[in-house]
Order: sequence, then C-alpha cells, then structure tokens
Amino acid sequence: MLFSRFIPLTTKKKLVAGQFSSRAPSNIALIKYWGKYGIQLPKNASLSFSLSQCSTQTTLAYTPHQHSTIDFEVFFEKRSAPEFKPKIETFFKRVLPYAPYLKDYHFTIHTTNTFPHSSGIASSASGMAALSLCVLQMEKALYPEMTTDYFYKKASFLARLGSGSAARSISGPVMIWGKHPRIKGSCEELAIANPFQMHPFFENYQDTILIVDKGQKKVSSTLGHDLMNNHPFAQRRFEQAAVNILELIHFLTTGDAEGFIELVESEALTLHAMMMTSRPYYLLMKPQTLQIIEAIWDYRQTTGQSLCFTLDAGANVHLLYPKSERKKTMAFIKDHLSTYCQHGAYICDQVGKGAVLL
Ligand code: PMV
Repeated sequence: MLFSRFIPLTTKKKLVAGQFSSRAPSNIALIKYWGKYGIQLPKNASLSFSLSQCSTQTTLAYTPHQHSTIDFEVFFEKRSAPEFKPKIETFFKRVLPYAPYLKDYHFTIHTTNTFPHSSGIASSASGMAALSLCVLQMEKALYPEMTTDYFYKKASFLARLGSGSAARSISGPVMIWGKHPRIKGSCEELAIANPFQMHPFFENYQDTILIVDKGQKKVSSTLGHDLMNNHPFAQRRFEQAAVNILELIHFLTTGDAEGFIELVESEALTLHAMMMTSRPYYLLMKPQTLQIIEAIWDYRQTTGQSLCFTLDAGANVHLLYPKSERKKTMAFIKDHLSTYCQHGAYICDQVGKGAVLL
C-alpha cells in the first residue's frame, strides 16, 4: 500500500546540475526494534538516543539525464564503492513512488563515516538517513512550498525504506518509531521526536562504545528480523516492548536512574535472548561482551554509580552514564574495561540533537 501523503504532484520543473549534503547521526535503541513485516514496518514501537559524534556525511550530486532510469555511482571515503550499490539500489527502487523525479537525474554519491568502517558499528541507519535528507533537499528545490515539518517527516519515511532503524536517525535527542496507542503522533511509517519532556538528568547522557569485535557480524539484522516470524516468543516480546516503552518514557521524564538502568539492560539482554532462541539459534555476544557486563555490575554495586549498558545486534557494548559521572567512568574504562576491547578500542559519544543539512 502506498502512503499517498508522500507522493508528490507531478512537476515539469527540472533542476540543473547541483549537489546537496547532509550529516545524520547513528542511533542506539533503548527499546529495541526486532521483528518487522511488510516493507520495513516494525512489529513493535522502539525508542532510541540519537548520537552526537558517530555520524555519516553524504553528498548527492545530480545531473539531469534523459533516459528515465535510476542511475548512480557510489564513493565511500573517496574510493569507488560498488559493494554499497545493491543496498542503495533497493532504497532508490522503494522510494521511487514517493520521489519519481529521481529517475530524471544521474547521481554521484559521496559518503564518509566519522567512525571507523571496521568498528562493528552499523552505518546503515546514519547512511540511509543522510541520503534521504539529500533526496529531500532536492525535493525541496523542486517544491519550494514544502514545509519543514513535511521535510523531516518524509526524510524519516524514506530513510525507513532503506533501513528500519534509519527512520530514527533524523532528529533527536530521543526518537520513537512505531505505533503505540498511548504515544500521540507515533506511527509505523516514520519516527517522531519524543513528545515528552526529558528530565535534565538524561541531558548530554554519555554513550561510550566499547569495540569488542570490529568484524562484520555473522548473522545480518535482516535475517534476525526474519527469524522473529516463526519465533516461539515473538508475540510475548512485542507485547513486552509495548509496556517497556511506556515505562522507559516515564523514567526519562521523571529522571529515574534506577528504573532506567534496569529496563535498558533488560531490553539489551532480551534482544540477544531472541537471537539465542531463534531457529536457527545464534549468538552475537563474545566472551568479552559478558566479561564487560559482569564488570559493569560489579562496578555499579561497589561505587553506586549509574553506569549501565545496552547492546546492538553485535558484540560491542554501549556504556550509558550521566555526564556528571564522566571522569570516574572514563578512568574505569581506561584502566579496566578497555582491556576487553579489540586493540583497546572505544569511541566516546553522547546523546545528540539529530541530523544537519550542510
Ligand atoms: O534497522 P535494522 O534492520 O538494522 O535493525 C536494527 C535492529 C537493532 O539495532 C538491533 C535494534 C534497533 O532498534 O535499532
């Protein structure tokens, strides 16, 4: 089914050659999206922090052409990157009904990440969001009357068609994607900024990413989502996520650190439990992931600090803590946790405001 709201009226206007650039952040889900249907629609609502430092910067250069097909080349960090083409091709095909003008141009896409490519940090969310924002800038040039609200909503909508969690990489600091009857404005097709006021305790919340495994993960998220289709615990999990998201919003609003820690860690382990109980079953955590988790629990018990963790679909560990605990936590990371990291690598980040147009 097409989402008619985002199908533009036909226009005879054609742009001369030009380019648009944007930078979009990576995001880390606290309430996880795991399981989808249709074309990139989530089985449950998810909630994420947008990051500040980890981002993708993309330039979309266009020249008009006559042959009415999708035609593009991709460069990653200034080198031709044909390996990125299939994913971008799928993206263009999916967005074409909503951006028919794309077939009137030849594109050259230049993209770079602020985080190392081989760090185990997925760039699909930030990458698809950055590309969508470039497409929207083009659309705005063709339809100058477009409102800012429509611009960002449609950017999230298009990004979602490229990679589900990319829908959340548009704005910040907290994004919600997926329909929830108790969250006003929430919908499956695009992500919205958290409509609730966040407590100052969570402002500038830190996220230090411990790089446990730089390699490509062995089981893709696409396959993982698929395995939720015949998963014995899937339905219960979707129901649980619907309860958890409301609880988390309550903790974020009231500044309840204890509630936040318990819920966020439980969500992370539940995500991995879903993987471990799929058929076929698999593990993305490494021994060091578990060692880090144990060390965090010990540290919290002995120091009373608010350090907690979350996990993506991989072995790396996201450490979450308030800015006021930065000095102490960094010492703990340097002296202890970094010994579990591949080549001692970690990336310091914090919650950010969302994407920027360049
Ligand atoms: O957007 P995808 O298809 O790469 O799936 C992302 C899934 C998780 O990162 C594990 C959770 C999430 O909500 O981001």
